[in-house]
Amino acid sequence: MKFFIDTANLDQIKEAQDLGILDGVTTNPSLMAKEGITGKDNILAHYRAICELVEGDVSAEVIATDLEGIIREGEELAALNPQIVVKVPMIKDGIKAIHHFTKNDIRTNCTLIFSAGQALLAAKAGASYVSPFIGRLDDISTDGLHLIADIRTIFDNYLFNTEILAASIRHPMHIIDCALLGADVATAPLSAITALLNHPLTDSGLQKFLEDYNKGNL
Ligand code: G3P
Repeated sequence: MKFFIDTANLDQIKEAQDLGILDGVTTNPSLMAKEGITGKDNILAHYRAICELVEGDVSAEVIATDLEGIIREGEELAALNPQIVVKVPMIKDGIKAIHHFTKNDIRTNCTLIFSAGQALLAAKAGASYVSPFIGRLDDISTDGLHLIADIRTIFDNYLFNTEILAASIRHPMHIIDCALLGADVATAPLSAITALLNHPLTDSGLQKFLEDYNKGNL
């Protein structure tokens, strides 16, 4: 399973990159705003900075919601760097745009996926990734992980190449469950990724090893 970090924070991206486990980055307009990155020129410059930091795919989201606008913005984003994957919302014109981008060899990530039917349409249009938002489904008492399992079954039934990019991950168990269910990618905040490092028995075991070593070397 690939690990993407879900942030526009350059320090956090660097920290995940330094761990040696990072395969890519996802962003969205809310994550950009959280870092105080506003205005088209600043946003484009920030995407370039992220691409310089990491080697893998970097999802950059369009703001337009009409076909012409999505295509114009998507082509501009894709021209920034070959690492860019154009993030397109799951709307009718978004699906049409994904079809257009696919025919023109521009990779896409269909975002705001909340049902298996939406994922199936995006895959049919040729999306490189679909992003089911599991945390936001959990927030409304719907099982987000169930959606990952359904999409996995559908994509395997028909050998779709579209990768399942589990998004809206809130905690380390989401990452583990996505790995068990066969998601291709988990995009998560740094806190959920680094939480995978921790176990109290690791801490107490290491402490004991060091105490015993020091006893023998007094
Ligand atoms: O990648 C999508 C993700 O950023 C949404 O996460 O926590 O805002 O639901 P969240």
